[in-house]
Amino acid sequence: MKQLTEQQLKDNYGKLRNVVSETFSGERLEKLNKLYDDFEDRIVVAPASGKEEYHYCHVGGYVEHILHVVDTAKKVSKLYEQIGGTIDWTEEELVFAALHHDLGKVGDLTEEHYLPQENDWRVKNMGEIYIANPDIQNMRAPERGLFILQHYGVVCSLNETLGIKLADGLYDEANEYYLKTFDTKKSLKNKMSHILHWADHMSTVSEYDEWRFENQKQSEKVALSVNKIKDAVDKQVESNNEVKEKFNTKSTDAKDIFNELFGEPKK
Ligand SMILES: [Fe+2]
Repeated sequence: MKQLTEQQLKDNYGKLRNVVSETFSGERLEKLNKLYDDFEDRIVVAPASGKEEYHYCHVGGYVEHILHVVDTAKKVSKLYEQIGGTIDWTEEELVFAALHHDLGKVGDLTEEHYLPQENDWRVKNMGEIYIANPDIQNMRAPERGLFILQHYGVVCSLNETLGIKLADGLYDEANEYYLKTFDTKKSLKNKMSHILHWADHMSTVSEYDEWRFENQKQSEKVALSVNKIKDAVDKQVESNNEVKEKFNTKSTDAKDIFNELFGEPKK
C-alpha cells in the first residue's frame, strides 16, 4: 500500500489550500478557510476509501484524490467543449464541486468517518483497512458534505449542489431520480454534474490501476529476489556436493589432492 511521508502529506495539503485560496475570494473564501482550519487534522490524514482495492485507501489518500479530481474535471470540461458540448457553468463552480464532492468522507462535525480496522484477519484477507465509524449518523458522503458546507454558511449554487450530489452518478441508486428521467422536461438542465461524475470515476479507476500495478511491481520484485536466493542456495549446494565427491572418491582425484597437499607419496 502507498505510504506518504510527513513532508508529502504537508505538501499535498498545502496544494489543496492553494487551490482554495486561488479559486475563491471574499466572504466565501473566509468561510471555507474556517472550515478547512477546523477540519485540517482530519483532512490531512484521511484516506479516500476504506478498502485496498477501491482507491487511494492510504493515509493522505483523500487529499490526493481531491487534487486528482480537480485536475481531471478541468481537463474533462475542456474535452467536452472540444467535442461540441456547451459549458454553461463557471470554473469556480466546477472546482468547488470537485473540491467538496467527497467532503462527507472526512466525517461529521465531531467525529471522523473512517476508523482503522482492528481485525487483522479482515485487513489481511479482505483488504479492509478502514471501517465506517458506527457512532456517527449513517449518511451518503455527498449529503454529509453539503451538510458541513451549510453548517459553515458556505452558500452553494444549484450547479455546485447537483455536482456534489450526483458525483457518484448511477453508482448511487438515489441518483436515478435525476439521471434516469426518460423525459426531456425533467432531465438535467445543466451538464456540469456529468463532468464531475466522469472526472471522479476516471480518477478513481486510474487510482485503482496505480495501486494494482504498484502491487504487481512489488510482487515481481519479491519473486525476483526469492529466485535469486534460490539460485544462490542451489549453486552453494552444488559446489558443496562437488567438494564432498572429491574427498570421498577413491579415484585419482583424491591422489591428486593428497599430492598437492603432501607431495608425492613414497613408494
Ligand atoms: Fe471521489
